[in-house]
Amino acid sequence: MESIVSTGDLLHGWQRSLGDGELRLEHIGQEVTLMGWVNRIRDHGGLIFIDLRDRSGLVQVVFSPEVSQECFRQAGKVKPEYVLAVVGTVRPRPEGTVNPDLPTGEVEVYARALQVLNTAATPPISVSEEKEVDESLRLRYRYLDLRRPKMQLLLQTRSRVNKLIRDFLDSRGFWEIETPMLTRSTPEGARDFLVPSRLHTGQFYALPQSPQLFKQILMVAGMEKYYQIARCFRDEDLRADRQPEFTQLDMEMSFVSQDEIMEVVEQLLAHLFQEIIGVRPDTPFPRLTYQEAMDRFGTDRPDTRFGLELEDVSAVVAGTDFQVFAQVLASGGRVRAMRVPGGAGFSRREIDGLVDAAKRYGARGLVWMTVTPEGVHSPVTKFLRPEILRQLLETLDATAGDLLLLVADEARLSAEVLGNLRLELGASLGLISPDQWSLLWVVDFPLLEYNREEGRWEAVHHPFTAPREDDVPWLESHPERVRSLAYDVILNGVELGGGSIRIHRRDLQERVFRLLQIEPPEARDRFGFLLEALEHGAPPHGGLALGLDRLVMLMTGQPSIREVIAFPKTQSATCLLTGAPGDVSERQLRELGIKVAVPASGGKATAEAGSPKA
Ligand code: AMO
Ligand code: AMP
Repeated sequence: MESIVSTGDLLHGWQRSLGDGELRLEHIGQEVTLMGWVNRIRDHGGLIFIDLRDRSGLVQVVFSPEVSQECFRQAGKVKPEYVLAVVGTVRPRPEGTVNPDLPTGEVEVYARALQVLNTAATPPISVSEEKEVDESLRLRYRYLDLRRPKMQLLLQTRSRVNKLIRDFLDSRGFWEIETPMLTRSTPEGARDFLVPSRLHTGQFYALPQSPQLFKQILMVAGMEKYYQIARCFRDEDLRADRQPEFTQLDMEMSFVSQDEIMEVVEQLLAHLFQEIIGVRPDTPFPRLTYQEAMDRFGTDRPDTRFGLELEDVSAVVAGTDFQVFAQVLASGGRVRAMRVPGGAGFSRREIDGLVDAAKRYGARGLVWMTVTPEGVHSPVTKFLRPEILRQLLETLDATAGDLLLLVADEARLSAEVLGNLRLELGASLGLISPDQWSLLWVVDFPLLEYNREEGRWEAVHHPFTAPREDDVPWLESHPERVRSLAYDVILNGVELGGGSIRIHRRDLQERVFRLLQIEPPEARDRFGFLLEALEHGAPPHGGLALGLDRLVMLMTGQPSIREVIAFPKTQSATCLLTGAPGDVSERQLRELGIKVAVPASGGKATAEAGSPKA
């Protein structure tokens, strides 16, 4: 086929005058030079219509042999996604052909010159139509996927969010400071991504799980107010709201209280909401203690857009001889309940589905009761005295039509199981409307959590979080009682961000390390630089990090952060566009002193560091 693309200086003398989507009635009569991609072609024999698209939108270009024979001939060879430059005159569309759905729908451009800047293969996914496309195909041909107006709008919105953040924090006196990517491990609870060092064979850099330690050092360095739109790397199991590399808005401040940090974050988020979706949430955001969140919602990231709150009914059922409840209570557990208005109408299958779900979430069973005008129906009514049943209904405000769900188990598990059922029911009963926003803080987290499998205490947030002053005396004797100065900000049931006031004294940091079984030699090896810095006049400081991908995902109503990341990874942490991770050459490995023990097997390879000659 004759090539219709000439090489060389294609644009010599051609200068784009406007975006395709910017043409309006006011441009009528003007000659414009447009560039863009062929969205759709309609060949009417005597006239050819081509919708030309760029990121500003699309416009209809008309090719008529009466205007230019040559152009008309060329236009006949054009195919979807070809890249064109067109010179033409803006005309009003003839009566009856105005397209009210298109911003440029009142005009069209009569082309007098056409250059094909590039051809295009038949696109494997359609750019011009909003069709459901297999996600792996979208990720493989991400450049086509991102050409779609929807994806362009999402990335544009993300860019606007970044700019709004920068302007807001700048106006509040924050400095944007970059911290290293090649660094030492920062513990945030995930595995590290390691980078082998060539100059120091057998040694590794870790990519940062967050800039946590550097931002603390920046406070010791007197920067006072820091922020960074920072890339973080965590080798953990992926989900819709988790990627192995993601972006945080990371902040830190000196000489501040928890309340002052929360105020800055509230003002920033309110500003972003106002600018991006035109709704300004009320500030200050509601605050729940961790305990309250667990008791009422069965989770430390409650979605308060709907009710179905949990109730601890242990006291009500305390005297029961129903063994399931009695045994759990005797061993220090709780019996919790949730009232589902209208749930009495559920089918038996729906109720069995809830019982199965409860078991999937770890419960040993689920007691259900339907309340009808005739009385309470449940497989266990016969075990519960009428007095207890009456009190239960009263405590839960239950009336005819309700379904009651009860779980007996350890305090936390009983809450979590019902918390999960609550979310399932909130969704399946349609209790959440898309324009509702729930922004809140969860505060007073416990500092530590016991890891039974490993038989040791772990930091709930991270090891640098300060305990509440009044709880410090309990550190060694009752670690479970110590609350931290940590806070999470929750948006629609998603953990949007978390932060804390930090430990700024070496002695306290060392005590916490010891509790976490990070013994002094290890503490010195891994965090010696921090401990040393704390001895050189570290000011009191604290901060927070927001998940930027999650924020943009939620504000734009997307189901996954992959929709708001230009080049995301798949569930199994691969990049379908580039094929990463990939093999490296023998020579690279030799230089790094690395021998691969297990040959590449879909991510199962283990690296062995050794001498370069090994
Ligand atoms: P944290 O670990 O809570 O805190 O992270 C802060 C926020 O980052 C987001 N986030 C993620 N987003 C996408 N993919 C992931 N894998 C992922 N992991 C976390 C979440 C989360 O709330 N250094 C502390 C902050 C501080 O104490 O200042 C930290 O990193 O939205
Ligand atoms: P079982 O005695 O195991 O036959 O259970 C009797 C009823 O109590 C069944 O409906 C179980 O689903 C329910 N059940 C069992 N264990 C629990 C529990 N820990 N919490 C709530 N309900 C339970």
